Amino acid sequence: MPAVTMDQLVSLCKRRGFIFPGSDIYGGLQGTYDFGPLGVELKNNLKAAWWRANVYERDDMEGLDAAILMNRLTWKYSGHEETFTDPLVDCRSCRSRWRADHIKDTCPNCGSKDLTEPRPFNMMFKTQVGPVADDGSYAYLRPETAQGIFVNFNNVLATTSRKLPFGIAQIGKAFRNEINPRNFIFRVREFEQMEIEFFVMPGTEDEWHQRWLDDRLAWWRSVGLSSDNLQVYTVPKADLAHYSKATYDLMYRFPIGFEELEGIASRSDYDLGSHSKEQDSLGLSAKVGRNDDSTAKLTYFDPESKRHLVPFVIEPSAGVDRGVLALLTEAYDEQQIKPVTPERAQAVADALAAFVKSVGRSEKLPAEQRDAMLERAELIGKDMAASMAQIPALLDMPGASSIELGKKLRGQADPALDESYRTVLHLKPALAPIKVAVFPLKRNAPEIVATARQIRKSLQADGDMRTVYDDTGAIGKLYRRQDEIGTPYCITVDFDTIGQGKDATLSGTVTVRDRDTMQQERVPIAELQTYFRGRV
Ligand code: GAP
Repeated sequence: MPAVTMDQLVSLCKRRGFIFPGSDIYGGLQGTYDFGPLGVELKNNLKAAWWRANVYERDDMEGLDAAILMNRLTWKYSGHEETFTDPLVDCRSCRSRWRADHIKDTCPNCGSKDLTEPRPFNMMFKTQVGPVADDGSYAYLRPETAQGIFVNFNNVLATTSRKLPFGIAQIGKAFRNEINPRNFIFRVREFEQMEIEFFVMPGTEDEWHQRWLDDRLAWWRSVGLSSDNLQVYTVPKADLAHYSKATYDLMYRFPIGFEELEGIASRSDYDLGSHSKEQDSLGLSAKVGRNDDSTAKLTYFDPESKRHLVPFVIEPSAGVDRGVLALLTEAYDEQQIKPVTPERAQAVADALAAFVKSVGRSEKLPAEQRDAMLERAELIGKDMAASMAQIPALLDMPGASSIELGKKLRGQADPALDESYRTVLHLKPALAPIKVAVFPLKRNAPEIVATARQIRKSLQADGDMRTVYDDTGAIGKLYRRQDEIGTPYCITVDFDTIGQGKDATLSGTVTVRDRDTMQQERVPIAELQTYFRGRV
């Protein structure tokens, strides 16, 4: 299969209920997305896997869930008020705004070179706190979860009596007023982070930095990302964030190329130091702004040296949304399972050619949308057998719904796709939104239906496995629907199951079909729980 494109992922996510554009019925809100019934399951499974690996399976970690709204002083002393900025330029011709480091002195919208000088734009969202709107009553929506951990350092230490090294883990929302949110859920204005602040003895930070890098790479592999699609980028000194002594970026091969999935920063004693009072007494190594507002020293009493010290911090910080995007990218696959008859292939090719002509002629389409559609259609046309499954994504591209001949193309492509192709999400079973789907071979056979419903219910009963019942199509179609959303196993209940088939030895058994191999086997109903427990 050719490398998956963002359009294919966007199309699948919308079509099957993973991810929708935010506030869609009101024309959307740029940089926001809503996770649908399947998306929320996938996202929750990813977060649960992270929490299990980093909190439950380690003996040096505590969890936290801090408030999103924090005292504004947090962001003064963290350095965000001053430095959490992106360089912004305006195009004087079309009045669009861009991140200076994302464009090459030419406006991507109108091609003009008449741009303003870059100026810093702070990315924190401001919101009013309380009923009186005055200068002092605002707060920020947190742009990272990290600061909630730092300001709670003493609370966690006092209530858990932890010894160094130990960490605090948190998953939660973060907000950034990105100048150009783009690339689906890769760069959005509201997203979630999975962050760890790991506190170590000064002098051991380099060793821990390397250990966390290895650990985090191993974890991303364990949830299904392949080594070929992961890279480590050592951030050059000149590009480091204000708090960082050294940073590794874990890069994933998204459809837009290798981009950051997680940052692993060595933050020295900057954070605890900058939020502490009486900093002169702390012997800090980091350069911090003087803090006359904090009421606490964020220090650790070292029983060996019998002195208070400020721990150093290693911070693995991953984006949940980028994690979901990486999982989808990795898992997405289109397979031709049967040849398409020459007549059908010709009919689809003709419909595609007519659609392309119509796009080229359309006066309703903005140039950008038209060019993107033509480029995609041309690629599909070049290798129709390998790319036919991309037609639904083509027809979901922005602007495509205004092309009347799109309906005809869909009408020709759908039967060919149904018959000869399948889209599969090869998600790890533990991450798949639905673990098992149960089908009755015939939906008007009451005993088969009752058995199927009972199996679904009993598999769902202990609550750790999402299962569904579906009888809304022929079995082949139901299999393909589940393949497309990554369901690892499908069960079919047939006449043999209820003792009315040809083979009496199959009574009380069902067919279990594996998503990836498409192999089927008979499994006794009584053994299903055990069968799936080891597999999902
Ligand atoms: N506390 C450190 C911190 O926030 P970061 O590199 O700015 O570091 C960490 O963010 C991770 O959060 C990134 O690696 C990325 O996965 C995710 N992230 C950051 N900005 C994002 C955005 N606008 N949309 C989606 N994810 C984002």
